[in-house]
Amino acid sequence: MASDQRTPLIAGNWKMHGALAESRELVASIAAGVAGATGVRVLLCPPYVYLTSVAEWIAGSEIALGAQDLSEQTGTGAYTGEIAGGMLTDVGCSYVIVGHSERRSIYGETDSQVAAKFQAAQSQGLTPILCVGETLEQREAGQTQDVVAGQVQAVLDAAGIEAFAQAVIAYEPVWAIGTGLTATPAQAQEVHALIRGMIAALDGTIAADLSVLYGGSVKGANAGELLAMDDIDGGLVGGASLSADEFLAICRAASS
Ligand code: 13P
Repeated sequence: MASDQRTPLIAGNWKMHGALAESRELVASIAAGVAGATGVRVLLCPPYVYLTSVAEWIAGSEIALGAQDLSEQTGTGAYTGEIAGGMLTDVGCSYVIVGHSERRSIYGETDSQVAAKFQAAQSQGLTPILCVGETLEQREAGQTQDVVAGQVQAVLDAAGIEAFAQAVIAYEPVWAIGTGLTATPAQAQEVHALIRGMIAALDGTIAADLSVLYGGSVKGANAGELLAMDDIDGGLVGGASLSADEFLAICRAASS
């Protein structure tokens, strides 16, 4: 039986999509659709420049706000283009995604940089959502478990087990992101169990309370079977978070 802290979390990661007017419509529809919903936590992670607007639009709702990335630098300073964790809390964020595969593969973020961002987030009172996952080549070479374990271990080494009491992990197989291919519930569960097992080996209570999300082509039609798995505690949703109908269908699957 999962702990209360593992009430399903459905997080929408808009990536670099949306204009202000359409974002407003999207958020209004999502907010109306989840009003009064029980048994699900809803989080929206829009692009940086829309955070303040989304914060206003969701004010008074149960929806939480998150960012898609942050600087590993804490405080302020001469870091052109960077956004500090403190700035994110300042505009109403409670979560931030770190180590998304697109940050790792397109922008070259390393495990140690991801760990630094994870710690920078926590130092500013944000809950980091640590993304991990293997590429298709790695899966086909039988390296899935080693890759995912290595990504989690890098953060454990830097931040320590206690840090995971205030964190979320998202397993996002790279081959399933934006491709329409979804890990089968059994494939996802296997990796989620590995992740929880790593944490449990160090602290059983933290492991029992840890939310481990699945991401990779989650939609209304497949959310139910994924979320039915023991160690899948929610979804990190990309494409489907840009459609209120799809996103709400996922939220309904989570709350039922
Ligand atoms: P898709 O849902 O579009 O596959 O994206 C998943 C993802 O990367 C969420 O962070």
